[in-house]
Amino acid sequence: MPDIVVEKRGAIAWVTLNRPDARNALSRAVNQQLQEIAAEIDHDTDLRAVVITGAGDKAFCAGADLKERKGVPAAEAAPYINAIGGAISSWGELRKPTIAAMNGSAYGGGLELALACDFRILVEGSEVGLTEVRLGIMPGAGGTQRLPRLIGEARAKELILLGRRISAARALEIGLVTQVVPRAQLVAAVDAMVGELAGCAPLSVQQAKSAIERAHASSLEQGLQTERELYDVTLYSEDRDEGLAAFAESRPPRYQGR
Ligand code: COA
Repeated sequence: MPDIVVEKRGAIAWVTLNRPDARNALSRAVNQQLQEIAAEIDHDTDLRAVVITGAGDKAFCAGADLKERKGVPAAEAAPYINAIGGAISSWGELRKPTIAAMNGSAYGGGLELALACDFRILVEGSEVGLTEVRLGIMPGAGGTQRLPRLIGEARAKELILLGRRISAARALEIGLVTQVVPRAQLVAAVDAMVGELAGCAPLSVQQAKSAIERAHASSLEQGLQTERELYDVTLYSEDRDEGLAAFAESRPPRYQGR
């Protein structure tokens, strides 16, 4: 089975992360494919909107593939981190409207991917969080830049600095997601939104999206660069190795602050 499935349903591209056994974690291969798919979608003039979802009912996406990362020394991790950042930026830069159909929980890079979309529809009972600081790293694919813009700095700090996992209901309350629906209604909710978009002029939607994003554009670029530089401090820390080891061994981490 491919790691990502792309289907065209009329004028809509449905992109499914298809690694349910790994909770749809973003491996380097997946990130490369995501970037290629975004480029193809962007140039496909038949498409009006893009939906990204995950296979299975456990998670939309559990973030970076922590098992793949575990074997990677800090000095060799840059391509992995750049791949996830590149993939998520390519989704953020799509000119067509994007909907994250979140079939389950999203953590770390999984939530960062959803944050790069225009709309997030989350299944009831799921959780979301930028949990990186609990793993000895920090959000490195746009989370520190996109989340505060979306929900405000105070609430973003609560999530990012405490590595909190919050419920779907709370995510809706603070405006992190657009809508929360029962699992059985996820596809219908996406279809309804796509139906609304069908009544809007594509060029108008595209230009309005671009206008909203340009309000932040230059500083988002700088912010992403800054985030990437700051990330390296956590990348070369002993706590990063400890976080990955503790995850692999299913035990609480013992962080030393170095
Ligand atoms: N990278 C790689 N593998 C992952 C993963 C990740 N980010 N998240 C989960 N998996 C794997 C597990 O190791 C497990 O593999 P195994 O079956 O070979 O043991 C499998 O996916 C199922 O995970 P499990 O924890 O048993 O599933 P669950 O449904 O009970 O819980 C999550 C799902 C997503 C809540 C939980 O796996 C989790 O918290 N993952 C880490 C999320 C995170 O902090 N991501 C931030 C990355 S920066």
